[in-house]
Amino acid sequence: MIDLSGRVVLVTGAGGTIGAGIAARFEAAGALVVRHRGLADGDLRTSADRVVSNAFGVHGRLDAVVNNAGVQPVEPLPDMTTGQWQSVVDTNLTAPFAVTQAAARHQVSSITHIASIEGTHPAVGHAHYSASKAALIMHARAAALEYGPRGIRVNTVSPGLIARPGISEQWPEGVARWEAAAPLGRLGTPEDIGNACVFLASELASWITGHDLVVDGGVTSRPTW
Ligand SMILES: NC(=O)c1ccc[n+]([C@@H]2O[C@H](COP(=O)([O-])OP(=O)(O)OC[C@H]3O[C@@H](n4cnc5c(N)ncnc54)[C@H](OP(=O)(O)O)[C@@H]3O)[C@@H](O)[C@H]2O)c1
Repeated sequence: MIDLSGRVVLVTGAGGTIGAGIAARFEAAGALVVRHRGLADGDLRTSADRVVSNAFGVHGRLDAVVNNAGVQPVEPLPDMTTGQWQSVVDTNLTAPFAVTQAAARHQVSSITHIASIEGTHPAVGHAHYSASKAALIMHARAAALEYGPRGIRVNTVSPGLIARPGISEQWPEGVARWEAAAPLGRLGTPEDIGNACVFLASELASWITGHDLVVDGGVTSRPTW
């Protein structure tokens, strides 16, 4: 078991499905977790600096950040407005950029963005989302270059489809397709993503930076032709 006792970790969007699982796994590893729960705790499009400073202030230190907060609206590309595009990019890409800058000023040692397999495998209705996640993966690689000499590692975790309460009832055909496509035969859990984040924030990953860790039950390994 990885031991992160005494480490302080900020998880953004910890009020959501995956963020709650990430926070739980860090706590299981002994970390002190500062939960940014969502919009009520600060809109990261406009308050990244304040959110990170507040998190630092809770325990007087900050060791790691997980940029998990994000939005996933569906909009066919022919009808998509510039405002809809911009809103997704602001939340999923520009906010993690700003959180990363602020966290680096507090000399964290690890920053992990939650990207998506859609950053490499686009989905219909998600042109803005897929582009934001592709750019987020590239942001982490660029940040790894510039922050590495300061001892700050920056990586991404790219989840596949993650289970949430009611998903089987709301989207039965999607769940069935996923289960058939996944070599491991199931949807992911928020804790699967949390485990990857804990690993990347730990000493076990001390020589890993600029990496995109795909956590998808093997779906993107399957040939589609
Ligand atoms: N679910 C999946 O299958 C899946 C797959 C791949 C990647 N992901 C990624 O995983 C991350 C979490 O997804 P999820 O499914 O757990 O979503 P979720 O349940 O909707 O949670 C998203 C969280 O982000 C917060 N948030 C959104 N916009 C924000 C903003 N402008 N400022 C501050 N907080 C904001 C939300 O706060 P409010 O509740 O206040 O809005 C919420 O706490 C996202 O980055 C998503 O793209 C999800």
